[in-house]
Amino acid sequence: MKTSIQVTQSSMPSFEEYTEEIKDLWDSHWLTNMGLKHRQLEEGLSHYLNVPFVTLFTNGHLALENAIAVYDLSGEVITTPFTFASTTHAIVRNGLKPVFCDIKFGDYTIDTEILENLITDKTSAIVPVHVYGNVCNVKEIDRIASKYNLKVIYDAAHAFGVTVDGVGVGNFGDASMFSFHATKVFNTIEGGAITLRNASIGKTLNDLKNFGITGPESIEYVGGNAKMNEFQAAMGICNLRHVETEINKRKIAVERYKERFSGVKGIKLLQIQEGVKSNYSYFPVVFDGYKMTRDEVSEALARENIIARKYFFPLTNSLECYSEKYESDITPVAKYISERVLTLPLYADLCLKDIDRICDIVLGI
Ligand SMILES: Cc1ncc(COP(=O)(O)O)c(C=O)c1O
Repeated sequence: MKTSIQVTQSSMPSFEEYTEEIKDLWDSHWLTNMGLKHRQLEEGLSHYLNVPFVTLFTNGHLALENAIAVYDLSGEVITTPFTFASTTHAIVRNGLKPVFCDIKFGDYTIDTEILENLITDKTSAIVPVHVYGNVCNVKEIDRIASKYNLKVIYDAAHAFGVTVDGVGVGNFGDASMFSFHATKVFNTIEGGAITLRNASIGKTLNDLKNFGITGPESIEYVGGNAKMNEFQAAMGICNLRHVETEINKRKIAVERYKERFSGVKGIKLLQIQEGVKSNYSYFPVVFDGYKMTRDEVSEALARENIIARKYFFPLTNSLECYSEKYESDITPVAKYISERVLTLPLYADLCLKDIDRICDIVLGI
């Protein structure tokens, strides 16, 4: 049996680098509650992401839930269903109604030409997704949000380190959520962050992730517990030192895939958008009119112990937990893509020999 290839593999510092980083925790005994490592990582990320404000969370999902909560929204929130369940769940768990907008064929982000038609007098926010690290049409979203006085909270879980014309993606909208889950380009084992263009709401966001505690004897908000601990932050400090190298290694892998698949009829690859510095976070392939269906390709890979993911299938508007409420037919482009897309293995240490093995199977060689 050939060795298995997972869809992703977590980036890790050397064992020595991590243990050196956590050593002083045995002196301080300060393991969580916004300790030194937490502060160091926030500073490092603010610099790397080129944003004025970063606050860390124990995971990306709770970061998003809190970013939505901090604006005290009501009614309806426009979003897309071509995403991980977390995006929709974060809206629903805040007691808000998700209104699903379709995506664009080109880059799978929210279709701003349809978005405006979905706005009603109940709409309070837009939660667009920079899916696969593709950047939404931020200018048009900004224009619409200002016109209707809506908040914009980006799900930037996939977009760590992405820039548009040199501007860090975390500067767009009112807030952006990044995921630092083990499978992401940059990880803190589990983790996440919110970046804000305007730091004025930052203090409340910090309080919300810590039970709403605002002082030694005052709790002004009904907050939860979503703090990142020191061991997670230490992993982040180490991984941040190597993230550029990791992204460059991913780029080499992506270029090999592209070389092998370019010009093949029925295989559609992700194009890097103009002005965008990509983080090469995913390698989604759309099989449309190809000699094998997406499911057949996935099965052929699985027979060789290679795990690809139907990311994102099903759409969130057809998940069991929402099946009574929404219809995937209202977002036909998202439905079309989700039935044909397969995310192939991609991680920094994926070697060219393994990529060739994957490509041979996909190409039926
Ligand atoms: C698009 C998207 N949103 C939200 C999340 C949630 O992030 P986390 O796993 O860090 O909670 C993820 C990742 O898992 C994601 O891919």
